[in-house]
Amino acid sequence: MDTRMVLLDRNHLQEEQLKEAAELLQKGELVAFPTETVYGLGGNALDPGASAKIYAAKGRPSDNPLIVHICDTDALPVLAKDIPDGAWKLAERFWPGPMTMILKKQDIVPKETTGGLSTVAIRMPSDPVAAMLIRVSGLYIAAPSANASGRPSTTKASHVWEDLHGRIAMILDGGPVQIGLESTIVDLTGEKPLILRPGYITLEEIRSVLPDADFDPAVLKRERNDNIVAKAPGMKYRHYAPKGELTVFEGDLEDVVEAVRREALLKEAQGYKTAVLASEETKDRYPGLTVLSVGKREDEEGIAACLFDTLREFDHMGAEYIFGECFRTDGVGQAVMNRLLKAAGYHIVSVGRK
Ligand code: TXA
Ligand code: MG
Repeated sequence: MDTRMVLLDRNHLQEEQLKEAAELLQKGELVAFPTETVYGLGGNALDPGASAKIYAAKGRPSDNPLIVHICDTDALPVLAKDIPDGAWKLAERFWPGPMTMILKKQDIVPKETTGGLSTVAIRMPSDPVAAMLIRVSGLYIAAPSANASGRPSTTKASHVWEDLHGRIAMILDGGPVQIGLESTIVDLTGEKPLILRPGYITLEEIRSVLPDADFDPAVLKRERNDNIVAKAPGMKYRHYAPKGELTVFEGDLEDVVEAVRREALLKEAQGYKTAVLASEETKDRYPGLTVLSVGKREDEEGIAACLFDTLREFDHMGAEYIFGECFRTDGVGQAVMNRLLKAAGYHIVSVGRK
C-alpha cells in the first residue's frame, strides 16, 4: 500500500485539509495523526475491521486494547455505561487533554477495539489537528500510539513513516508533538481510581480532583521478575525499546556517571557500538564515547518531549549497547522514568550509596 504523507500548516488549519483523511477513516482505512502526547494510528473505533487493521499494521498483540478518541463529552455515555461521578469530574478538569479514562463499555463498542475486555479506554485530545479530524470524520477514533509494537512511541511524522509506511493509508504531518509521552490512564471501574500508566498529568493532579486515587502497583514495578501483573494489558509488554541493549544506572549522580563511563568504555573496548544516554549537565563527562543528551535535569518536560526521539536516535547510530543515567522521579519525571525503565526491560543497576 502507498502511504501518503500530508503536511499540515498548524497556523492555518482548515477542515478542507482534513477531508480526505476523514473519508479514508470513514472507509475503514488507517490514518496517523498528531495528538498533544504522541502520534496516534487512527481507525474507526466502531468498525471491527478497522481495529483488526490497526493490530496488523503495528504487529500488536490482539489482547492489547485501543484508546477511543472523542471530541465531545456527549460521546461518553454513548461509549461507556455506569459512569461514576468521578469520571465526569476528571473530564471537566482535564479534557480536552492528556488523560484517558477506563470505564465499562457499552455494547456499541466492539470487543475487537477493547482487546476482548468489557471496559473501554476513552480520551479527548486537545491537539487541534486531532480534535478537528474527529469532528470532521464524525467518528470515534481508535488510536494507539503510531509506532510498530514494542518500539518507542512516535513524536514526529518521520518516526511514523519509519515504522508504518507501506502499511497505512495516510500520515498527517502536524510537526513534532508538544508533550512527547502518552496520556495518563485512570481506571474508574474499581473501588478506587487507579493510575494504570503515569503521564503528563501527575498523581497529585488527579488527587486534586479524586483524593483517593492511587497508582496501580504495576506502575511502581522496578524488577523484571516480580509477580505484579499490570492492569493495562499494554503495560506488561517490553515496550519503548531501542534495538540496542539499554541499561539504566541509578544512585547518586556522581556514582552514576562513574559507573556509566566505566561500563560503556568496557563494551566499547570489546568492539561493540556503544552509546551513553546523558543530560546537558553530564554529557561532557564521557570523553571518547558517543553521547546523546535528553536535556537539562531540572527540565522534566523537556526530557519528556525528547526521550522517545533520543531512543530512536540510538537506533539510527546502530548502537548495540546503551548505558543511561537515571532522572528525577517527581512530577512528570514519574512518567519519564516509567518509560525509560520499560525501555530497558527493567535492566537497572544501583550504584554507590543510595
Ligand atoms: O496519549 C495516548 O494515550 C496515545 C495517543 C495516541 O492518544 N495513545 C496511546 O495508545 O498511548 P496505546 O494503545 O499505545 O496505549 C494504550 C494503553 C495500553 O497500555 C492499553 O493496554 C491500555 O491503554 N488500555 C486500553 N484500553 C484499556 C482497558 N479497557 N483497560 C485497561 N487498559 C487499557
Ligand atoms: Mg503505545
